[in-house]
Amino acid sequence: MRVESADRLQGTLTPPADKSISHRAAILGAMSEGRTTVGNYLRAADTDSTLAAMRSLGAEVAVHDTEVEIQGVGMRGAKPASIDVGNAGTLLRLLPGWLAGQGHGRWSLDGDESIRRRPVDRIAEPLRLMGAHVECRDELLPPLEIEGGELAGIRYELPVASAQVKSCVLLAGLLAQGETVVVEGTRSRDHTERMLVAAGADLTSREGVVTVRSAERLELPDVSVPGDFSSAAFWLVAATLVPGSEVHLSEVGLNPTRIGLLRVLQRMDAAVTVESRRMDGMEPVANLVARHGALAATTIEAEEVPLVIDELPLVALLGAYAEGTTVVSGAAELRHKESDRIATVVDGLRRLGAGIEARPDGFAVEGGAGVRGGALDAAGDHRLAMLGAVAGLASREGVEIHGAEAADVSYPGFFRDLDRVTP
Ligand code: S3P
Repeated sequence: MRVESADRLQGTLTPPADKSISHRAAILGAMSEGRTTVGNYLRAADTDSTLAAMRSLGAEVAVHDTEVEIQGVGMRGAKPASIDVGNAGTLLRLLPGWLAGQGHGRWSLDGDESIRRRPVDRIAEPLRLMGAHVECRDELLPPLEIEGGELAGIRYELPVASAQVKSCVLLAGLLAQGETVVVEGTRSRDHTERMLVAAGADLTSREGVVTVRSAERLELPDVSVPGDFSSAAFWLVAATLVPGSEVHLSEVGLNPTRIGLLRVLQRMDAAVTVESRRMDGMEPVANLVARHGALAATTIEAEEVPLVIDELPLVALLGAYAEGTTVVSGAAELRHKESDRIATVVDGLRRLGAGIEARPDGFAVEGGAGVRGGALDAAGDHRLAMLGAVAGLASREGVEIHGAEAADVSYPGFFRDLDRVTP
């Protein structure tokens, strides 16, 4: 796939549904009693893996385009199964929390080549502290084997800021005796907490301390999934970088734990505005407008990282166009994503002509000259494929993306949307 340098970007897009929220709606729908309708469910490879997983656990799942109806099996009704999570790290990390607390049964979770490199010791450790039977390869990696049993509540301080680990422990907490407390040093996305409260769980969250008590049943009301800020982010950055651009984005989820990139863009002097803020069920949404503008360099440190974790590849590209040196630190977690995103982003953008260097926990970009163009290998990572496309639009000579189909993991219509905004 080749993306040519763009003269300008113009138009209005509605980004695809939020991936994190879609995964959670499917899982909590399956854990519930009764029927849940999920409107605007993300139909992409990752979230289709979650629907297939819920079916193999015994939930009835009917899909009509982007509307998904789930007949849950109840909190303690998951059938034993071997589950293929595909490329979905969120499914891999959340689901064991529910399964470990089933009274009996065995489950195995495995996935593609990339999933087999993603650490699961981070969930095995707290689950074992709760009394769960969890085995993984080399004490670190999938496949994961889980045997259901009795769990007891714990107080757990997260060693890494991770919404996936937090969510896993909270789901197990629903099935554990007593109270389960998760303490976050740095706040991470809170979609699970919002949805559990809506489903009737006894959950409180204050200043980074989330407490959940065991629950008899969940009843997830109908969910309407907002647009994914992480998908909208590609267009915010593309419009910022390509001279003469103005792109409007409709119905974008603006959960405060997700939108660190807006603050980063503001610090860099970008021209992004937020319009018509409103609540859509459990989550805030708004429309966004991004226009081209000159950029100043910025720095991002550990406490801001979870709020912008999936957008850091785009920050590297922004840095190449900003005046000064943009530095990201405290982001070693990037090495454990769909690819080692410090290595793949730095290597990829450097080949395109950016002045970027890797650090153990981030990167530094010498800005001003932008990117020349060339070829970028997506390394099987959806966000790398789309980063390559945005780099192509902003580049002088265009970018050839190898493995562009990886975008389908979270944004199957990405290249169609690209055609829509390039006149
Ligand atoms: C996610 C949490 C983040 C994020 C991932 C989705 C989630 O991962 O990078 O894309 O839905 O909970 P970590 O929890 O590992 O930081």
